[in-house]
Amino acid sequence: MLASLDDLERQALDELAGVETHEALHAWQAKYFGTKRSKGALEQAMATLATLSPEERPAFGKRVNEVKQTLLDALAKRQAAVKAAELEKALNAETLDVTLPGTPPPRGRLHPSTLTLRRIIQIFSRLGFEVYRSPEVETDEMNFGLLNMPPEHPARDMWDTFYTTRPGVLLRTHTSPGQIRVMRERGANGTRPLRVILPGMVYRYEQVTARSEMQFNQVEGLAIGRNITFADLKGTMAEFARQMFGSAARIRFRCSYFPFTEPSVEVDVYWGLATERDRMITKGTGWLEIAGAGMVHPTVLRNGGYDPAVWSGFAFGMGPERQAMRLLGIGDIRYFWQNDLRFLEQF
Ligand code: FA5
Repeated sequence: MLASLDDLERQALDELAGVETHEALHAWQAKYFGTKRSKGALEQAMATLATLSPEERPAFGKRVNEVKQTLLDALAKRQAAVKAAELEKALNAETLDVTLPGTPPPRGRLHPSTLTLRRIIQIFSRLGFEVYRSPEVETDEMNFGLLNMPPEHPARDMWDTFYTTRPGVLLRTHTSPGQIRVMRERGANGTRPLRVILPGMVYRYEQVTARSEMQFNQVEGLAIGRNITFADLKGTMAEFARQMFGSAARIRFRCSYFPFTEPSVEVDVYWGLATERDRMITKGTGWLEIAGAGMVHPTVLRNGGYDPAVWSGFAFGMGPERQAMRLLGIGDIRYFWQNDLRFLEQF
């Protein structure tokens, strides 16, 4: 009887030695240890215990358990070996050539307007200005009235305006209405000095040309204090131009008129006059206008809650796209909103 168990053990171990895949391993396991539905060889051997005499039974039972343990140990070892071999095979089949060039993910870029806006904001933040956001859809009162342009004021014609169907509501033609908002909101009833910039989109019902768009960004600047003079405006503009365009950049101030500043100026940066395009962009002067500016008009200070007898301030409104043209050598402002990737991918 015990010899038949030795045979069973030998046969099982021999077969196991030949098993290479885990399907074969399952089959072997089913054959010797059984499944839910069928009895395995070991269980069948155990069943013969009942047919043995009581003297033979203990030795037989002990031997069956030994065989079972031997087979379980061998099975565990074989399982590990089969798993390792299969992994090895899979790795060989799926070799990865790390020397091949990868597929680069497409890289996004910042829009030239964004790049320029960020640069402007950075320079002014170093000069102590904070950023304030003000709405693009404005009231007539904010865009014109409180900026010293009551209804029918001729200076309103300086800006061709997009009106909405709701009376008194328009798309702001400049960032200057933000001056009133920031004075009223941050000024604490005209008691606190201010140094802010207000970047954002503005809209004008205007002829589109190489230097003029009907939508573009502006960055408004406003500084209010007890002793602010025109020299502060000039110094701030000169320092800004130095940081923006380099220490060799030349700027000039021209007398101008805005209803909300007195005196008023326009600020130009030297562009050059070498080519026909330079002539076109600078209207034949070699200078590109980058900002309007001036000392805040007493009426505007009052509308913002400040007493003009105590407070003074300067303001400016600059065009970042015009500056981007100068900085990045862009010859036509119309490229900015055409979303042509051949253009946008250059920055
Ligand atoms: C104004 O809009 C005034 N609000 C500026 C100002 C603010 C003056 C505070 C005094 C105090 P102006 O219309 O000149 O001014 O525009 C200001 C700047 O925006 C210009 O210098 C120019 O750089 C830019 N700009 C004007 N029109 C266009 C346009 N159509 N396309 C692109 N940039 C423009």
